[in-house]
Amino acid sequence: MAHLFNRNILLGVSGGIAAYKSAELVRQLRERGAWVRVIMTRGAREFITPLTLQALSGNPVHTELLDATAEQGMGHIELARWADLLLIAPATADLIARLSAGRADDLLTTVALATPAPVLLAPAMNQQMWRDAATTANVATLRARGAVLVGPAAGEQACGDVGPGRMEEPPVIAEAAARLFASGVLDGKRVVITAGPTREALDPVRYLSNHSSGKMGYALARAAAEAGARTTLVSGPVDLQAPDRVHTLPVTSAQQMLQQCLALARECDIFIACAAVADYRPAQIQQRKIKKGAQQTSLQLVRNPDILATVANLENSPFCVGFAAETNDLLAYARDKMQRKNLDMIVANDVSDPAVGFGSDDNEVTVLWRGGEAALARAGKNTIARQIVELIARCSAADH
Ligand code: C5P
Repeated sequence: MAHLFNRNILLGVSGGIAAYKSAELVRQLRERGAWVRVIMTRGAREFITPLTLQALSGNPVHTELLDATAEQGMGHIELARWADLLLIAPATADLIARLSAGRADDLLTTVALATPAPVLLAPAMNQQMWRDAATTANVATLRARGAVLVGPAAGEQACGDVGPGRMEEPPVIAEAAARLFASGVLDGKRVVITAGPTREALDPVRYLSNHSSGKMGYALARAAAEAGARTTLVSGPVDLQAPDRVHTLPVTSAQQMLQQCLALARECDIFIACAAVADYRPAQIQQRKIKKGAQQTSLQLVRNPDILATVANLENSPFCVGFAAETNDLLAYARDKMQRKNLDMIVANDVSDPAVGFGSDDNEVTVLWRGGEAALARAGKNTIARQIVELIARCSAADH
C-alpha cells in the first residue's frame, strides 16, 4: 500500500450520488498519512453534509468563493497553494465540462484554475453521459492538460443502468493518489533532526547558551518533509516558525534534548544532529538568583552528554549525520569526528568565514561519508539542505 505521509490533499467533491463515498475516501487518505481539506460544490451538499467531511478530515469544509469570513481563514488562493494534489471525487459530467472550459464560477473550479498542483479526477456519472461525445472530448482536453483519471469503473449503476461510469472505490482512488507521489527521495522514511542552541540554566533568570539561529536545522526539516519523510524536529529555543508538515518538539537544555532524541531514536531511520549543543552546563542550578558581590567569581561546569554520539552508538542505530563547524583543518577534524562518534556522514563547514554558518542565510559545506565526499558550493541554506537530503537518501539507501 503506497502512503501519503505529509501530503496535502485538497479533495473536491461535486454533486453526484457517489458523493457518499467521499466520506470513506477522506478516511482512507488520512489513514495513509495525508492532510486533507475538502471543497464541496453546492450540488455535493445535496448528497452529503459538510459536517460529515469536516469531522473526518479534521478541518472546516470550504464551500463558498465569495464568503468574506471564509476568505479570511484560508482563501481560494491559499487553498490552491496549500495543495500538493487536487483530487476531485466524484467528478461529475458537469464539473468535467466546466473544468475543460476553464470556468471559474464556484470555489472548486476557481481553485482548479489557480493551483499549480497536479489534478486527479475520479469521474462518476450515468454510463450514457460518460459515453457522450461531449464528455469524451472534455476528458481528452483535461488529459491533454495533464489531468490524471482514476476510473470510472463499470458495473451496475445507482440509476439501474449497467456500464462504465461508476466512481472507483475509495481504496483504489487513494492508491492512485499515493502512486502520483512515489518519487520523493525519502518517501516513507522517519527522520529526526536536532536544531538550534541549548540553554543551560545557572539560576532562575540566567543561562549559558550560544548564537546558533537554528536556520540550517529548520531548512533540513523542510527539505526532509518535502522529500516525503515523516519528520520530527527537536528544537532548542530559536526565533523561527515551526515548519509546515514537521512535528516540532521544543526543548531547552541538552539533557531535555537527549531525552527526546532517545525516545525517538529507536523509531527512526535517519538522525541528523544539527543543534549547537552546549558542551558544558553549570554543575548546580541555583534555586535563587545569584547575587553579585565579589570582584571575581567562578563557575563550576560539567560536561553535557554528546547526543549524537549516544544515538550513533545505540544498538541498531539509525543512519547518523553530524555537523562539524571548524575554523581550521576542516576536513581532517571532520573525518576524525565522524570516526570518533561512529557516524555515517558528516557535514563540515568553515565557520571562520562570516558569510556562511552561524546566523547567516547562506552556507557552503563539504559532506563526507564513508565512501566519498562532495563539496556543495555557496548557496542559500534551503538549497544546501535539499542537496544534503539528496546525499543522505543516496548513502542511507546504499548503507542499510
Ligand atoms: O563535538 P562537536 O560539538 O564538534 O560535534 C558536533 C556535532 O555533534 C553536531 O552534529 C552536534 O549537533 C552534535 N553534538 C551533539 N551533542 C553534543 C555536542 C555535539 O549532538 N553534546
